[in-house]
Formats: sequence, C-alpha cells, structure tokens
Amino acid sequence: MDTSEVERLIKISREHPLLPETYIPWQLEPMPDDIFLPELLTSLQGLEIYDTLTPTQKLELGRHELVQVIASYAWGEGLFCVFMTRHLLTLSADNVEHQFLLRELIEEFRHQEMFAQAIAKLGGKPIQQNRMHKFLGEFSNKYLPADYLFMGSVAVELVTDVYGNHARKSPSVYPVIKKMFDLHNIEEARHILFTKSLLKTYAAKAGYIKRTMYSYIILFNILFVRTMYVKREIYERIGMKDPDAVYKIAVTNFKQKFADTCLEDIIDFVGEWKGFNTTTRWAWRLLLNAKV
Ligand SMILES: [Fe+2]
Ligand SMILES: [Fe+2]
Repeated sequence: MDTSEVERLIKISREHPLLPETYIPWQLEPMPDDIFLPELLTSLQGLEIYDTLTPTQKLELGRHELVQVIASYAWGEGLFCVFMTRHLLTLSADNVEHQFLLRELIEEFRHQEMFAQAIAKLGGKPIQQNRMHKFLGEFSNKYLPADYLFMGSVAVELVTDVYGNHARKSPSVYPVIKKMFDLHNIEEARHILFTKSLLKTYAAKAGYIKRTMYSYIILFNILFVRTMYVKREIYERIGMKDPDAVYKIAVTNFKQKFADTCLEDIIDFVGEWKGFNTTTRWAWRLLLNAKV
C-alpha cells in the first residue's frame, strides 16, 4: 500500500468533509419536468413495452427503481461498516489503514443517513432484500477474510460509481438526487483509490487459485447487486398488467443493459491482476454477459 497516497486521502477527508445536511438542497421539491433515474438505467427502457407507458408511469418507474437502488446501497454500506468496525479492532491505531478506515466509516454512516433522507424525500417504500440476499450478505460479511471483502467492496463501489455518473450527467434529474450522487461519487472515489491500493499488495502475491477466487468474489458481488434492483412489485405499483411477464423480460433486458453500461471499470480492474482465465472467463460471460 502506498502510505503517502493514503495519508493524502485522509487529509482530504478531514479537511474537506461533505456534509449531506448542507451539501444537498433538501428544501427543493421536484419540478414537473424532473426525473428521478436516468431512463437508460430503468429496467424497462429499451423494450417495446416501455413505449406503451404513460409519462406518469415512466416517472414512477424511475422513482421506485431509484428508491430500490438507494436502499440497496444503504443496506450494503451498513453491512460493510459492520465488517470495517470488526477489522479495525485488528489494526493498531497508528496504522495508516486504521486511520483511513475510520474516515471511511464516518463517511459511510453519513451516506446511509443521506440515503434514508433521500428515500423519505422521494416518498419511497423500499422493498426488503429477499432471504437469499440477506443470508448471503450476512454470511459472507461474517466469515470471509478481509481481502475478499475488500475485493467485494471495490466491485460494488465501481458499479455504483457508474450510476452516479449517469445521474450527474443527466440534466433533468431532480437536483436533490443529483447532489446526493455528487457527494457520493466524490467520497467513493477516495474509497476506491484506497481499496485498490490496499488490494494491489494482495493481488501481487496471489497465484492462479487466489486470483481465480478473487475474480469469482467480484463476479458474485456484482451479480448480487444487479439482482437487487429489478422488482416485480414495482410493475404492480405503477399499474402494469401482468407484472410477472413484465418482470421476466425486464430481468433479461436489465442484465444486458447492466453489462453494456456498468462493467467497464470493473473489467479493467480485474484484468489488471489477470483475474480472467479459463476457470473464470466463462462464468463472467454466462452470468454477467461480460465481454471478457
Ligand atoms: Fe458510500
Ligand atoms: Fe465506500
């Protein structure tokens, strides 16, 4: 790990904290033309059925799906905070990793509060994680070694970064959401730099088997995240006929869309330490439609 680089990241975090309380214009209500989630990131855009939706249904689809995305972040970050707290206890207080993780925890707790506030502002009703997500999330958090959990976290952070960038670039996104993603992307960029720097040491030492395991951990984390966003109940809420059939085509559509828009950075990262090999490549292609 590059100590001076991590010290620089700690300094920025201490000297330039971004407080959701003041950074986000919470007092602004959505304007009639505002949207919540860029259309490209909704599960139905790109399908013929999307063109049959009324403008209100499209808007509502974006609102419900954005709430789902934010609630999933908040839950995932909460889990990761549990791990980081446990991991901190194994490090000495004068260690630079210890100092950075404390900053990261402070920021992640602020993010979780910000996400909860944004959901309230959107009048959102997040759909709870299913039992499989809950079990896998809690089990892996408790039993996987630190390097695997950091691999998983960087995968999720790189994917959420893509969502943030799309929302920030889209001119019609509701300003509260835009600023929320702004804040999140700025701070997550530092977390990504830190985690990549930390993992460089692990990846450099890893042989074929370890690299294969890391690659699978990342793949499953991405799969985990992707399957949290698309929910059958949302189609019901926006008044679509036959939500089961819609859900089926939405899942396939979103899988491809996710592969086209969200995987570039993570594929570069895994490629850097040769995480694609004959044991992993087929799974990336099959499960994530990734071009590797
Ligand atoms: Fe975060
Ligand atoms: Fe983070």
